[in-house]
Amino acid sequence: MASLTVRQLDDKLKALLRLRAARHGRSMEDEVRVILKAAAAGREALEKFEPPAPPAMAVRRPASPIAADARRVLLIIGGGIAAYKSLDLIRRLQDGGAQVRCILTAAAQHFVTPLAAGALAGERAFTDLFDARSEFDVGHVRLARDTDLVVVAPATADLLAKMAGGHADDLAGAVLLATDKPVLLAPAMNPRMWAAKATQRNLAQLVADGVRVVGPNSGEMAERGEAGLGRMAEPREIAAAAAAMLRAAGPLSGTRVLVTSGPTREPIDPVRFIANRSSGKQGHAIAAAAAAAGADVVLVSGPVDLPHPPGIAVVQVETANEMLAAAERALPADVAVFAAAVADWRVERVGRGKLKKQHGEPRALALVENPDILATIAHLKKGRPRLVIGFAAETDDVVANAKEKLAKKGCDWILANDVSPETGIMGGDSNTIHLITATAVESWPPQSKDDVARQLVERIAAALQDEKR
Ligand code: CTP
Repeated sequence: MASLTVRQLDDKLKALLRLRAARHGRSMEDEVRVILKAAAAGREALEKFEPPAPPAMAVRRPASPIAADARRVLLIIGGGIAAYKSLDLIRRLQDGGAQVRCILTAAAQHFVTPLAAGALAGERAFTDLFDARSEFDVGHVRLARDTDLVVVAPATADLLAKMAGGHADDLAGAVLLATDKPVLLAPAMNPRMWAAKATQRNLAQLVADGVRVVGPNSGEMAERGEAGLGRMAEPREIAAAAAAMLRAAGPLSGTRVLVTSGPTREPIDPVRFIANRSSGKQGHAIAAAAAAAGADVVLVSGPVDLPHPPGIAVVQVETANEMLAAAERALPADVAVFAAAVADWRVERVGRGKLKKQHGEPRALALVENPDILATIAHLKKGRPRLVIGFAAETDDVVANAKEKLAKKGCDWILANDVSPETGIMGGDSNTIHLITATAVESWPPQSKDDVARQLVERIAAALQDEKR
């Protein structure tokens, strides 16, 4: 068999092979070996070895119910003893609903490892400007742009100096120079280094360039006997500053949004109630998407088995009357979205004690109509939100019935959906929506409730923007 070396391949093939090897973290020779082995095992196996798509940013979901539009944070960890706190910061940013990607400077790796940062972030940490794997996978310019916020923690004296001078001789410097996204610094250094004229000059320059700073705090230093201004802000303070910056950057920043979600429970007696199958998934997803877009959100929720979306004020209620009162208290709002499945009726006289069987006799429950929360708020003479959006849960003639509801309830938009049991929408994870306005009907494709939420929030942002023009 003739011998073949990588050097003999033509340039195009070589480039493809280099890219593929970089993605898989193998040498080019090893990559060739893998391909040949797969080819020998048949075409099917070869297909399995096709390079995967570039990695999407990983999200740690369990603690964070935000699915609707997680914001991306690029965390640059500098080389200081406070770097160990940055590992906690990764968690806190994630708990706030963010996807986190990490870069470690060379100095940072003396304090924490890329493995630890990568394991917490859920994707490998980036370290080297000249690492073929990073450049082929993502590239420093994409790292710089493919994020909503850059956080530097700890921001050492050296990193501040590099940033102020625009040095790009390592990955952190290159990314900081290339980014067009907001930057938050959490300085950490010895009090004398913090007070040094050079540091303060660099800091003043950076602030003038538009970066934001959190901390440093005053207190004990890692070195025994040293105390003063220079301790890195606590991870929870940095995460809060990051969350505020993410909110301020969103298309709904400065907007207040009220969302109702979930079912209501109407008591029959102290142990029984009337309720419905609403899971609250759609309403909660809308609240999360609005918050991710920068809105100040109040979520009024009936009893649901869902975690509270982060960064949102949640008011928990049981009955329709309580939901109405909470919604009214949440005003003024710019936008109100009524996604709750409110029980239409409540029991006229709630039993004070548990109702007893009547020896085979039928038991009649007198029901009275609940207040219509959407219609009440949509018809407000004073303090009506600028955009009032309702849902129409229908099983027949979805669009026609929803159009009627739009007029009857006095809202601006209705999102109509077919909740017949065979659609699986009630309690399920996907939804098929028709957006009905006074003048148009728009049918959206079937999609996840998170995507419905995202699309609705985009429409809301566009409508508010149009209003301003
Ligand atoms: N809604 C409300 N208060 C109620 C009933 C409904 O705020 N007491 C809101 C829902 O949150 C939804 C819209 O009104 O945004 C339509 O709800 P839906 O259940 O489809 O309609 P109903 O008004 O209950 O009418 P029907 O049951 O007769 O279809």
